[in-house]
This record gives sequence, structure tokens and C-alpha cells, in this order.
Amino acid sequence: MASYDRIVILTGAGLSAESGVSTFRDPNGIWAKYDWRDVATPEGFAKNPQAVHEFYNMRRRSHAEVKPNAAHLALAHLEANHGGVTIITQNVDALHEAAGSTSLIHMHGQALQALCAKCQHRHPWRDDLSIETACPSCKVVGAMRPDVVWFGEIPYHMERISGVLRNCDLFISIGTSGNVYPAAGFVAEARASGAHTVELNLEPSEGASLFQEAIYGPATQVVPAYVEKILSAHNNY
Ligand code: APR
Repeated sequence: MASYDRIVILTGAGLSAESGVSTFRDPNGIWAKYDWRDVATPEGFAKNPQAVHEFYNMRRRSHAEVKPNAAHLALAHLEANHGGVTIITQNVDALHEAAGSTSLIHMHGQALQALCAKCQHRHPWRDDLSIETACPSCKVVGAMRPDVVWFGEIPYHMERISGVLRNCDLFISIGTSGNVYPAAGFVAEARASGAHTVELNLEPSEGASLFQEAIYGPATQVVPAYVEKILSAHNNY
């Protein structure tokens, strides 16, 4: 295996599945139980804000209880022993942080953070949100929302993401179905930059044909094994 200097890793819900966090499009996934138009769009929030708060309250409570799995820990180990790793996550849980990752971009926001639509201040948030919640900064009641990116909104940190994709020599996609843009387009951007592209997933994603290498299996098995391969090539270099 070659040695790589600048590694970009895109993660999706499949990375957290073995920690007990539901994925979205698996047969018993979140979108099999909820209509995304009702709970993950600005229109849904405008129509019934309390229903959207309850959806994220349920997810925030479950995120507070789960623990990082061997795949999250392997990625944190890679960052600590390589020095050129950036993780772009679509996940809104805090499992990468809990595992020790720090070079991390939450492109879809974070469920354990709240945003005031009035003053734009962000606050760490572990409790429930409701239409009665006052903003700790501007005190306005009813302007608080989960700090997550809904369908139809622009993902966060896209400038920084384009920069790391332009400069990487290894791009790894883990636990994502490749259904949602712009994340689903990152592999093409990385390939255009000359990076080697790898898919680590339970099964081939929508974008499987765009990857030069693919290893299928549960993340807690395939991710630690691949991290070991990267580090042994890096250390022997
Ligand atoms: N190990 C590895 N991969 C897994 C595992 C596992 N244990 N379990 C499931 N997977 C894979 C599935 O095969 C699937 O390809 O993870 C992927 C999960 O796909 P989705 O449920 O579509 O989740 P994701 O790709 O992260 O969704 C992207 O869509 O709804 C929006 O904003 C939401 O960030 C989310 C985005």
C-alpha cells in the first residue's frame, strides 16, 4: 500500500450504526418512520415547530446515551498517529469527538447544539428544545432551533471542505449511502484532485462505481483494519 500525506475521510450514519444510532435509509431507518419533509426542512419547521423539536429532542436524548465504537476510535487513532487527517462528517452525533477526533468538520451541524434564528448565537444543548425556549443570549422566546442543516439549506463549512478535497491524496468514504449532495459528490472532487478513493461500507453505495477501492463489511471491522494498513505504510515510509 502507498503512503499518503493528506487524508480526507467522509463519514455517514453507517459509522454510528454499531453504536446504536439509527441510520436514515436502511429498512428500519429514520426515514422509514418519519417523513423528512415534516421534520427536516425549514417548511416543516415553520408549519409545526413543536413536532420538529420533539423529533430532535428524541434524537438528542439518544445521542447523549451512545458511545463511540471501534471505527470512531480507529479514526481518532489514525489522526493522532498520522497528522494529516481531516474528517468531514454528515453525522450530527458527537461520537467522533467522544472518540478523540479533533480535525473534524460537521457539514450537517450538530444535534447537541442549538441555534437562535434571531441573534444567530449557537449554544451547546443537551436538554429538550421547545417553542417556549428562550435564547440564552438575546432572551427572545421561540427563535431557538436545532443547529442542524435541513434539506434545502446550505451545508456548513463548504469553503473549507472544497479546500481539503482539492489537496488530498487519499479520500475515504465510510458508512454513507451516497444519496445526498453535496456530500455524495465529494468522491468525484477528490478523484479530480488525483486522490486515491476508497469506499468502506456495509454494501455498495449509490456512488460505488466512482471509487478505485472498496471494502465491504461492518465499520467496526473494516475501518480499524484499513487504518492499520494506512499507518503501517506511513510508518515504513
Ligand atoms: N457499517 C458500515 N456501513 C453501514 C453499517 C455498518 N454497521 N450499517 C449501515 N451502513 C451503511 C448502509 O449500507 C448505508 O449505505 O451506511 C449507509 C447509511 O446510509 P444513510 O442511512 O443514507 O445515511 P447517510 O448516507 O449518512 O445519509 C446522508 O441524509 O438524511 C440525510 O442529513 C441526513 O446526513 C444524512 C444524509
